[in-house]
Amino acid sequence: MLVAPPDTPQKLDPPVRLAVLASGSGSNFAAIAEAADQFGFELVGVVCNNPGAYVLERAHRRGVTSRVVDHREFEGRGPFDSAVVRELRNLGAEWVAMAGWMRIASPVLLDAFHDRLLNIHPSLLPSFRGLDAVGQALRAGVRITGCTVHIVRPAVDDGPIVAQAAVPVHDGDDEESLHKRIHAAEHTLYPAAVAHAVHSSRR
Ligand code: GRF
Repeated sequence: MLVAPPDTPQKLDPPVRLAVLASGSGSNFAAIAEAADQFGFELVGVVCNNPGAYVLERAHRRGVTSRVVDHREFEGRGPFDSAVVRELRNLGAEWVAMAGWMRIASPVLLDAFHDRLLNIHPSLLPSFRGLDAVGQALRAGVRITGCTVHIVRPAVDDGPIVAQAAVPVHDGDDEESLHKRIHAAEHTLYPAAVAHAVHSSRR
């Protein structure tokens, strides 16, 4: 796996108060939690839009605070994001990492955490934006794909790139096998990229 930027950031001092937004399994949340001591993250909580998501169990097991804001209870993105921002502020989050957050960020969220809202996407952006990035890569026949951590901007899977990791596509890969390899790269990349982004903003 080729990772850029390749340097391992130093531990953040003071630590950053970091929250995660997740909708599903939460393996990236777990990777961030695992690396919290190494990089100086104070993991203040997880906000989840899906009451049945496995990430809630992962958070519970690790003793990390979680909050559910169910998008189905809101009329549109603005009111939903207002509730999400309220929870993030209550948790005292300075930075926010989207990790499998399946909602499009509205200006309410973007403005509240301008340049402090990160996302991870399972492709080498700007290739294969949007849903099913792994399937898109397979169908395109690329031999190298990967994952990207970027600062979130209004367009989907767009914004300044913080870090990328390259992942080879093997003969006979299907979506599951390729996504598994990309996931492994994400778990290394995301915590280091969060630390890198926070360090850069403090310089
Ligand atoms: C990851 O592949 C991420 O790139 C994408 O959604 C997936 C989330 O996986 N945005 P997990 O919930 O962190 O396991």
